[in-house]
Amino acid sequence: MSSEDNTDPTAHWSFETTQIHAGQQPDAATKARALPIYATTSYTFDDTAQAAALFGLQIPGNIYTRIGNPTTEVVERRVAALERGAAALFVASGQAAETFAILNLAGSGDHIVSSPRLYGGTYNLFRHSLPKLGIDVSFVDDPDDPDSWRAAVRPNTKAFFGETISNPQIDILDTPGVSAVAHENGVPLIVDNTIATPYLIQPITQGADIVVHSATKYLGGHGTAIAGVIVEGGSFDWTQGRFPGFTTPDPSYHGVVYAELGPSAFVTKARVQLLRDYGSAASPFNAFLVAQGLETLSLRMERHVANARRVAAFLSNHPDVLSVNYAGLPGSPWYERAQRLAPRGTGAVLAFELAGGVEAGKAFVNALRLHSHVANIGDVRSLVIHPASTTHSQLSPAEQRATGVGPGLIRLAVGLEGIDDILADLELGFAAARAHRSAHTDLAAAAF
Ligand SMILES: Cc1ncc(COP(=O)(O)O)c(C=O)c1O
Repeated sequence: MSSEDNTDPTAHWSFETTQIHAGQQPDAATKARALPIYATTSYTFDDTAQAAALFGLQIPGNIYTRIGNPTTEVVERRVAALERGAAALFVASGQAAETFAILNLAGSGDHIVSSPRLYGGTYNLFRHSLPKLGIDVSFVDDPDDPDSWRAAVRPNTKAFFGETISNPQIDILDTPGVSAVAHENGVPLIVDNTIATPYLIQPITQGADIVVHSATKYLGGHGTAIAGVIVEGGSFDWTQGRFPGFTTPDPSYHGVVYAELGPSAFVTKARVQLLRDYGSAASPFNAFLVAQGLETLSLRMERHVANARRVAAFLSNHPDVLSVNYAGLPGSPWYERAQRLAPRGTGAVLAFELAGGVEAGKAFVNALRLHSHVANIGDVRSLVIHPASTTHSQLSPAEQRATGVGPGLIRLAVGLEGIDDILADLELGFAAARAHRSAHTDLAAAAF
C-alpha cells in the first residue's frame, strides 16, 4: 500500500474472511494467534492523568470489564463488520440486547411501534415489562403493510421494532419498506436478526438502523453460551429533535453529548450509561465461545439452510401436516420477498401445524430420538419444541394466535446432522402422533 493510499483493505474482505479476521490482531504481548480470554475484571492505569482521560472518553482503553474487555471487543468489532455496521456492544443475553436497544432511546412516557410477530420473550418484554417502566408498545395490525406502521406512530414514538425472520412464524420483514416509514417519522428501525444472521440478511444495508442478536443462537452456534449483541449502522441522525438524551450533556458521564460522537453514538451511550448502571455484562469466556462460532458462521449457515430446505419440502408433502411456516417454500406468502431480501436462504427455523392439535403435538415431540427437546434454536444439533405447551404457554390463546402459535404447532431448528437421519427421526414423530390420533378416535367411537 502506498503512503497516500488510506483505504482500509479490510473493508473489501469477503464475509468468509471477515468472520475469521475482523477486529483481531495476534496478541501484542504474547503473540498468541488465537483469541485470548482476558479473564480480568480490571486494568492498571499508568497514572492519575491517564485514568482521568480514560474515564472522560478522551482516549480509548480498558477500565473495568463490566463496560469493556479485550476479548469481548474483538467480538464486537467482528459482528459490527459482518453486519456492515459502525460499532457493536456485546452483552449478557439477547434479551439484554433488546432491552438496552429500547432503553437507550426511550423512557417513561415514550412509545415504541412493533411487529406482533415476535419471539415469546420479546413479546413479554414489550407487552408487560416495558409498560411497567412507562414505555408503551403498540403492535401493528399488519406488519406487511407500511400504512399499518404509519398509523401507529404517535408524537412520543421513539423506534420501530421487528424481527428480520420472525420466530416462529418465519415471515420476512419488509425492512426497506418499514425503515422508510420509520425515517419519514424521524425514528430508527431496530431489527432482531437472530434467525437470519448477517450471512443471510444484512439489515443495515436494507435500511435498518440498529440490529440486535441473541448471540446464543447461530452466532455462537453450538448451544454453549448465552449472549447478545447490539450493532448500530452509524448513519441515523439523532439531532432531529426526538432524542434529547443524545443532544444534551449527560450529567452522569462527564457532560458527554452522545450525538457528537458520530457513528458510534448509540453504542457508546448504551455502554457508558446502560451497561455501567444496569450491568448486564457478558463473561469474556462467553465472548470467546461466540468468537469460536463466528469463525465458521457462513459454513454452518449454508448447511443449516440446505438441511432446512429438505425438511421443509418433506413436511410440505406430508399428509399429516396442515401447514408449514417457511419463507423458502414457493407457497409461502413471503417467498417473493425472501428471494429479494434473503437470496441465500431463509434460515433453519421452521414450524408446522400438525393434524390433531395439542395432544398430537406432544406425542410427536415425545417420540423423537435424534432431535433434542429444548427451548433453543441455532445449535449444530437439531432441536424441537411444542410452543403452545412451553415457550408460549404463558400467553392467552388470543395472544398465541397473534404471535403465530397454533395448538398443534411444532417448531424445528434444523441442525447439521445427516439429512436422512433428521428425516427418519421426524417419521418417528409422525408415527407416534398418528397412533395417538387413532387411539383417541377409537375411544371417542367407543363412547357412543
Ligand atoms: C429471535 C430471538 N430474539 C431474542 C431471543 C432472546 O435471546 P437470549 O435467550 O439470548 O436472551 C431469542 C431467544 O430464543 C430469540 O429466539
